[in-house]
Amino acid sequence: MNIEIITDGLSKRYGKFLALDDVSLKIGPGVFGLLGRNGAGKTTLLRILATLLPKTGGMATVCGADISETKTLRPLIGYLPQEFSFYPNMFVDEALDYLGLLSGVSRDVRKERIPELLNRVNLFDERRKRIRALSGGMKRRFGMAQAIIHNPAVLIVDEPTSGLDPVERVRFRAMLGDMAENRIVILSTHIVEDVEKLCDHLAILDKGAVVFDGVVTGLTKGGATLEEAYLQLIGEG
Ligand SMILES: Nc1ncnc2c1ncn2[C@@H]1O[C@H](COP(=O)(O)OP(=O)(O)O)[C@@H](O)[C@H]1O
Ligand SMILES: [Mg+2]
Repeated sequence: MNIEIITDGLSKRYGKFLALDDVSLKIGPGVFGLLGRNGAGKTTLLRILATLLPKTGGMATVCGADISETKTLRPLIGYLPQEFSFYPNMFVDEALDYLGLLSGVSRDVRKERIPELLNRVNLFDERRKRIRALSGGMKRRFGMAQAIIHNPAVLIVDEPTSGLDPVERVRFRAMLGDMAENRIVILSTHIVEDVEKLCDHLAILDKGAVVFDGVVTGLTKGGATLEEAYLQLIGEG
């Protein structure tokens, strides 16, 4: 399987409002950053790639399959939405088991994988806690565990570091870097430092359009910091 995402002239309208305008990107394995301010269109793009929202125009393929082939693609894609929540009264391990079932993971595989997964996201000691008793950072890590429970080739995470304290943020980044081995991780963020610390490639989205697409060093080679180059590109510098 070719681990690759391609979009060509992708667009999305909500009524008359053009939320994505002619987005053409090619994404390979590793952490790909999608940087943009609030309202830029990040969530819209991610939801289309996760096959959860229909596009208006253009095309997109994930690992060779058109995004309309949801049955083929759902097993290949893990998604952590920007606002992730789950039944607050469920226990952590129980909730993961249930989400694994929903993702089509067999009982035997779940039995083996859930303890591994809990260790991986550093929640093993919290496995008998209820979801509502988790801290914000723990909830985010739980969201991450459910996103990769079926071992997807593509992991799409929408602003996973916003609202985390600095320690959690550093940990979360390390975890994401870890998960990018042999898969595509698309990380949307409005935090320049996330991209700086994690991504080789990035796209900057502004008002629905791609205003930069390339390697991080391509933006900073003139001596500007990434933050300066970013603000300049979106007309705020
Ligand atoms: N369901 C919707 N209906 C109408 N407008 C929407 C809808 N979802 C998002 N938008 C608008 O589309 C633009 C992009 O939103 P979004 O993709 O959520 O951006 P981001 O994730 O970068 O903050 C915003 O102007 C937002 O108000
Ligand atoms: Mg968003």
